[in-house]
Amino acid sequence: MEMPVSQDSRPELVELIRRRIESDGGIPFADFMNLALYQPAYGYYMAPRTRIGKAGDFFTSSSVHAIFGRLVARQVHQMWEILGQGAFSVVEQGAGEGHLALDILDAVAEEFPDFYSRLRYRLIEVSPDNRQRQQAQLAKHAERVEWCAFDEVTAVHGCFLSNELVDAFPVHLVERQGDELREVYVVWDGNGFAEELRPPSTLLLNEYFARLGIWPDDGCRAEVNLGALDWMRQVAGLLQRGFAITIDYGYPAVELFAPHRRAGTLMCYHRHCASEEPFLRVGCQDITAHVDFTSLQNAGAATGLTRVISRPDSSQPAGSVKQAPRSLVPKIRRQIAAAGQRCIESATSA
Ligand SMILES: C[S@@+](CC[C@H](N)C(=O)[O-])C[C@H]1O[C@@H](n2cnc3c(N)ncnc32)[C@H](O)[C@@H]1O
Repeated sequence: MEMPVSQDSRPELVELIRRRIESDGGIPFADFMNLALYQPAYGYYMAPRTRIGKAGDFFTSSSVHAIFGRLVARQVHQMWEILGQGAFSVVEQGAGEGHLALDILDAVAEEFPDFYSRLRYRLIEVSPDNRQRQQAQLAKHAERVEWCAFDEVTAVHGCFLSNELVDAFPVHLVERQGDELREVYVVWDGNGFAEELRPPSTLLLNEYFARLGIWPDDGCRAEVNLGALDWMRQVAGLLQRGFAITIDYGYPAVELFAPHRRAGTLMCYHRHCASEEPFLRVGCQDITAHVDFTSLQNAGAATGLTRVISRPDSSQPAGSVKQAPRSLVPKIRRQIAAAGQRCIESATSA
């Protein structure tokens, strides 16, 4: 599939990727996505740009209304109670413009002053532009908030939180052809980026599906988020006592890799228009893929986490902000008692 390079792309970024392709003779799509989103000077998330909200490219739940953060605040407060009401850290990774952090901190300050006084809210953010936006957004909670690098975090007693982080990790793109798994490589065809199917760049891709016991159907495409598994294992290692809440777009593997999903879930967002064209608007559009919650939870379980909740219970209406998290209390209490002390909770926001 050949696509012309759009005039909307960042030319410096296109040139940089083109040179990398030239020197390597083609790169796995995951490397392309990593550069398009996170190249330090020109990547979509790294360069100054309004990404979230009406003037940006997409909305997130927390950018739409404070009720989302207020609900998470209730959940986190419940976790604080379960862990004995002592010092408690929320570590939020990939906080975007800081809407969720602001709504959680506002709600905790208002509704649970005792908890607020014991709370340390730590943010891990790879984008200098977003870090600045978060600092401005959270100025009124300055005494409770701090920024740190992932590798500065140790022995978390509390909750490791993310919303729409994992769907922004670079993914490998694969396609099943007969009995073979092929990987999408990105090449330069003289005018722009193009795809080439090659043998997988790493054995981990075959191992991923072998471990699940689920393979894409013949001719189907799928994304493999190897970074998500490493991340989950690291998060599990950082949690001394507490919870991981990961909210994202995604499905259990059996749904994500179902035969009807022939083209996978890779999507791009630019000025609120969705497309399936990652080679256009390079550096000026978001690229995402749905999360495989089965593999994520398996990675957590293999590192000692216990699953508490994997999806919102569709038989239960969400209820009001006062009722919803309360209804989870007995369930979590029972499960945590049975499970020990380190738990993963993940939820779909789709
Ligand atoms: C789609 S935005 C999330 C928005 C935000 N959580 C919200 O609720 O509005 C993805 C965020 O993750 C950040 N990010 C991506 N990879 C990261 C990483 N490895 N470490 C820290 N932040 C990361 C991006 O810079 C961005 O802030």
